[in-house]
Amino acid sequence: MRVHSVRAHTFQGSTTVPGDKSISHRALLFSALSEGLCRIENLGPGADVRSTAECLRRLGVSIERREGAVEVTGGGLTSLKAPTELLDCGNSGTTMRLLSGVIAGAGVGGTLDGDESLRKRPMRRILQPLREMGAAASGARNPDGDELAPLLFAPGKKLVGCRHELKVASAQVKSCLLLAGLFADGETVVREPEPSRDHTERMLRAFGVNLGFGPDGAVSIRRPDGPLHAPSILTVPGDPSSAAFWIGATLLIPGAAFEIECVDVNPTRTGFIRVLQRMGAEVVIEPTGERAGDPVATLRVKGGGRLKGTDVRAGEVPSLLDEIPMLAVVASQAHGVTTVSGASELRVKESDRLAQMVMGLRAMGVDVEEHPDGFRMEGPFPLKGAFIDAAGDHRIAMSFAIAGMCADGETSVKGAQWADISYPGFFQLLQKHSAGAVRIG
Ligand code: S3P
Repeated sequence: MRVHSVRAHTFQGSTTVPGDKSISHRALLFSALSEGLCRIENLGPGADVRSTAECLRRLGVSIERREGAVEVTGGGLTSLKAPTELLDCGNSGTTMRLLSGVIAGAGVGGTLDGDESLRKRPMRRILQPLREMGAAASGARNPDGDELAPLLFAPGKKLVGCRHELKVASAQVKSCLLLAGLFADGETVVREPEPSRDHTERMLRAFGVNLGFGPDGAVSIRRPDGPLHAPSILTVPGDPSSAAFWIGATLLIPGAAFEIECVDVNPTRTGFIRVLQRMGAEVVIEPTGERAGDPVATLRVKGGGRLKGTDVRAGEVPSLLDEIPMLAVVASQAHGVTTVSGASELRVKESDRLAQMVMGLRAMGVDVEEHPDGFRMEGPFPLKGAFIDAAGDHRIAMSFAIAGMCADGETSVKGAQWADISYPGFFQLLQKHSAGAVRIG
C-alpha cells in the first residue's frame, strides 16, 4: 500500500487513539497467568497485540472476542500447556521478549520465531540472563556474537532468581526477567541504567503481586504465595505513541488545532510531550482520570507556532523512545540545533530507525548528521516531497506521511500497510482529517 501526501493547509479535529500497545500485551499476558475471567476493553487492535493473543492461545489460554471487548480466562501460573506448534511472534519484539520470560519460567518449553525484521533483533539480552536463572534457552548465533530468533526453550527447567544489571534500559528485557521471576525460587532483581516504561510493575501490582523497589531504582520480585488476581474489567488507555503522530502533524501545519482524547500520560511515556513543550510547542495536557492504573488526559495541540531546537540526551530517551522518528520530523522545522544522543537502541527496533530517518529526511532536503547514537540538525529546512520506503517499520511509515504534509511537492510512502502493526486505519483517519492532503493508493 502507498500513501501520498502534499502540503496541508488545514488540520482540525479530534480523535481517540487505539489502546496502548505495551499495556495491551501485558493485559493479555498477566490475565492469562491469573485466575478467573478478565474482560479487557479497548485492547490495542494492531498486529503485534494479535501476535501475543495468538501465542497465548497456543499455550492453552482461552481468549475470546465478546461484545466489543476481549475476554481472557486465566488458569493461574501453572496452567500453561506445552505448545505443540511454533509460537509466531510476527513483527513484535514485545511478544517475543515478554513471552520468553513466561515460557522459561513456566518450564513448558517451545520455539519462538518471528518475521524477517524480528529475526534480526538482538535476543542475547534476554537469553543470557534467563540462562543465568537456569533456563535452557538458545537462539541462532549471528556473526556479531548476538543471538537471534528462532529461540528454543527446553521444557522442565526450574528457575532460580538472581540479580540482573542491564547494560541498556529496556522495558522488554526488564519485563521478561520480572515475568521469569514470577515463577522462580528466591528473589529476582532487575536494575536498569535509566528507568524505562513501568507498565509491568504497575500492572503486576494491580494483579496483587508484591514488588520491591530499591533506592538504586532496582525492581525485585518473588513468586507470590497465592494466585494472581485479574481485575474483572481492565480498560486500556489510549496509546501515547500513536497520539504522537497527531501531535506531530498538528505542530507542522500553520493554523492547525487537534485534540486527542483519553491518552495514557504515565510519566515514563510522556517524554515526547515534555521535549516538544521545551521546544515551544503548544501541547496542553488536561487530565481526565485514570485507566488501568495509569493517568489519562486529553491532549490539546495548536500548530504553526515557532519551535526552537533542543538537546535530547540518554537519560530522557526511554521516555520518548518510539516517538523519536516523529520528533526528528518536527525538529527539521525547528529553529536552531536539535541533537539526539544516547539513542543507539533505535538501530535495533523494527528497522534501524536512525538510519531510516536520516535517509528519508535527507531525501526531503534536510541536512542531518547521523551519529552512532543519534543525530544533529540545524533547522528549519524547507521540505520537498520525496519517495520514502517504510522499510517494514510502522513508525517510519506514519512519520514520513506526516512530513509530506508540510513539504512542497508530493511525498509517497511505500509500505504504508506496516502501520497496521500498531495503528490499523491510521491513514484512512489521516486522510479524513487532512482535507485532501493525504491520499491512499
Ligand atoms: C516496549 C518497550 C520499548 C518500546 C517498544 C515497546 C514494551 O522497547 O520501544 O515499542 O512494551 O515494553 P525497550 O525494550 O527498548 O524499552
